[in-house]
Amino acid sequence: MSVLFSPYQLGSLPLRNRIVIAPMCQYTAEDGNAADWHLIHLGQFALSGAGLLVIEATAVEDIGRITPGDLGLYSDDNQAALARVLAAIRRYSRMPVAIQLAHAGRKASRHAPWDGGQCLAPEEGAWQTVAPSALPHAAGEPPPAALDAAGLARIKSAFARAAERAAALGLDAVELHGAHGYLLHQFLSPISNRRDDAYGGALENRMRFPLEVFEAVRAAVPERMPVGMRISGTDWVEGGWDIAQSVAFAEALAERGCSFMHVSSGGVSPQQKIALAPGYQVPLAERIKAEVGLPTIAVGLVTEPSQAEAIVASGQADLVALARAMLFEAHWPWRAAAELGAQVEAPHQYWRSQPRELKALFGETRIGMR
Ligand SMILES: Cc1cc2nc3c(=O)[nH]c(=O)nc-3n(C[C@H](O)[C@H](O)[C@H](O)COP(=O)(O)O)c2cc1C
Repeated sequence: MSVLFSPYQLGSLPLRNRIVIAPMCQYTAEDGNAADWHLIHLGQFALSGAGLLVIEATAVEDIGRITPGDLGLYSDDNQAALARVLAAIRRYSRMPVAIQLAHAGRKASRHAPWDGGQCLAPEEGAWQTVAPSALPHAAGEPPPAALDAAGLARIKSAFARAAERAAALGLDAVELHGAHGYLLHQFLSPISNRRDDAYGGALENRMRFPLEVFEAVRAAVPERMPVGMRISGTDWVEGGWDIAQSVAFAEALAERGCSFMHVSSGGVSPQQKIALAPGYQVPLAERIKAEVGLPTIAVGLVTEPSQAEAIVASGQADLVALARAMLFEAHWPWRAAAELGAQVEAPHQYWRSQPRELKALFGETRIGMR
């Protein structure tokens, strides 16, 4: 029996299997509004048979977008555009859909990666970015403005307001983006946070703003809605954020009702030294799960069904997220189910694709599709 294809209960949200589609920025929104692209892109994933789909980093205010093309959930128009995409997905798929709420902080105001990812120039519509401290991400970049009390309060309520909109949209869960060097991670890491007030210095102070944001979001959505956090388990920089601090952060989140930890790494400093290898971030997830006990998602260079199966079967993590492998092969869970002798849900329009020798692949899961 495949563990990867066994059901999992994420708080009150039932998942049909342990495969999560990781959030992936598309930089293809207009004024934060989801476009036809999102219908196509998220639509294909909704038919993939994964247990959970996480919508890309979605900005809680306009200056929190990485690029002008980032998805947003800070206006009625943003909400209406996403409602249209979700209605189409819900029509054809039962897959639970989560959203990653984000603020890019000092990593905002950039070109899309395919245009080089550099900071926008003033004539290209650059905006003033914000961060815990007035330190740019990389030397030579325009410095962010250090957030004052009013700025912190504004962003905290922007997170809560976006979470309310997510609940109103009928989304199934919220993931806060506390990883990859974006605003919440900028507060956590001593590399980007040099404040000397209650929000900087000691670990307890650096965790304060991300924890306040978590509490505000948790309080803004119905209790049945899981709220989790994606973190960078380490900065991969000497003297930076590390796994011991991540464990402390996860413990503080657990006390506040966090539903899951999604464990990635890096992103706060160009000085990072990462030794890439298959499943290279899994040990970070494993530590969080073992020491804190929260439901944990492992991610990063998981590409093979047997590899994903081993991660959940050995208890290193509860769920496994895939990003690039899903872009490459949007029906990856079908292949995984075939290789692991499991079953996966597929839309009836595609049932005829079931290989002869795999008669049971879409077997009993052929129910409930409209
Ligand atoms: C196109 C693309 C966009 C991404 N956007 C996001 C994002 O919006 N939020 C996030 O937390 N990570 C983002 N990531 C990182 C992935 O979620 C994932 O953690 C990373 O790609 C490692 O997993 P993989 O080896 O399965 O691709 C993105 C990755 C890719 C390839």
